[in-house]
Amino acid sequence: EQIEKGGYDHFMLKEIYEQPNAISDTYRGRMRVAEGIIKMAGIDDNLAKLLNAKRILIIACGTSWHAGLVAEYIFEELVRIPVEVEYASEFRYRNPVIHQDDVVIAISQSGETADTMAAIKLAKERGAFVFGVCNVVGSSISRETHAGAYTHAGPEIGVASTKAFTTQITVLSLIALKLAERKGTISNSDFHYYLQELERIPEKVKLALESNEHIKLIADTYKDAKNFLYLGRGYNFPVALEGALKLKEISYIHAEGYPAAEMKHGPIALIDEQMPVVVIATKKGHYDKVVSNIQEIKSRKGKIIGIVTEGDETVKGLADHVIEIPETIEFLTPLLTTIPLQLLSYHIAVMLDKNVDQPRNLAKSVTVE
Ligand code: G6P
Repeated sequence: EQIEKGGYDHFMLKEIYEQPNAISDTYRGRMRVAEGIIKMAGIDDNLAKLLNAKRILIIACGTSWHAGLVAEYIFEELVRIPVEVEYASEFRYRNPVIHQDDVVIAISQSGETADTMAAIKLAKERGAFVFGVCNVVGSSISRETHAGAYTHAGPEIGVASTKAFTTQITVLSLIALKLAERKGTISNSDFHYYLQELERIPEKVKLALESNEHIKLIADTYKDAKNFLYLGRGYNFPVALEGALKLKEISYIHAEGYPAAEMKHGPIALIDEQMPVVVIATKKGHYDKVVSNIQEIKSRKGKIIGIVTEGDETVKGLADHVIEIPETIEFLTPLLTTIPLQLLSYHIAVMLDKNVDQPRNLAKSVTVE
C-alpha cells in the first residue's frame, strides 16, 4: 500500500497532487487548441440531439452533484440551454416531468451509485436521452447510458473525492464549449481563447498546490473549531458546498456551504470570534459583492480565510488569512479555488488524527439505497 501511495502519506493527498495530470489527461486527445477543435465521440455522434435539447437535467449524488451545479452555471452561460440539477435520490422518487427532447446528464465517479443508476433507468423509460460522465471505465452507469464521456482521472481510492471532481468539471466544460461553438452562443474568438485558458489550467493547479505549507499553518490555527462556514457566489457557490463537504467527511467538523449573499438570511447569526469563515473571493465573479460580505463577517468578528486571485490587496486588508490562486477566466475558477479547500480539509483531518482515506460511516461507492 505504501508503494501505491507513491510516497504520499495518504491516497487523498496523492490524488490532490495528481490533479494537474488528471486534468490534462481528461482533455488530451479531445481538445486541439491550435486548430480550435474539440472531438468527443459521445458528443459528436449525438450532436443533433444535444444541440436541440430544450432542457438539460443533471443527476448525481455527493461530490458529483456539486460538479453538476458548476456545470449548470457553465451550460447556462455558454450554451444558453436551461439546466436543472437534481439529487438522483430525489429525482427517482418524485415522478419527475421528463420530455422526449430533454437531455439527461448523469455524473458518477464510480459509475455504480444505486440512486443515480435508478434515476437513469427512470429517465430512459420516459424517453430521455441519457449521457453519462463516469470515471470508472466499463462501470454499470457507463454501460446503462446511451452515450458518455469518461473523465480519465485514473483510480480514485480516497473516499473523499478530489480529482474526480475537477476532471468532471473539465469534461463538462469541454462539452459546454463544443455545444456553444456549434450553437453559435459564443464567438469564435472567445471559443479559441477559452480553449487556451483550459489548456493552461494544469499549470495553474500546480501553482495553487504551492500554497500547501501556508495552508497547513492555517489548518493548525483552526483545527479545533467546532463549526466552519464556506461562502461563494456564482461559479464558486458549488465550490463552497464542496469545501464544506470535504471538511465534514474527513475531519468530522460541522461545516456549511452557502451562497455568500444568503448569509444574511440565517448563517450570519452564527458568526462570532469562534467561527472560521472560508470565503471564495476571486477577482471575477461578483467580487465587490463578496468583499461587502467579508466586511459583514469582519464586523461580527468572524475569522476570515479568503481564497483570492493572486495580487489581491483589498481582501488581504480585511481577511485574517488569504490563499492565492492564479487568475483565469471566470467559469474555470472552480478548478483552482477547489484546490486550497481540499488541502485545508486534508491537513485539519491529519492534525486531528482522523482516518483520512477511510472516514467513518462513509463508502467510496454507495451501491445500495
Ligand atoms: C459517495 C462517495 C462520494 C461520492 C458519492 C457519489 O458518497 O463517498 O465521494 O461523491 O458517493 O459517488 P459517485 O461514484 O456516483 O460519483
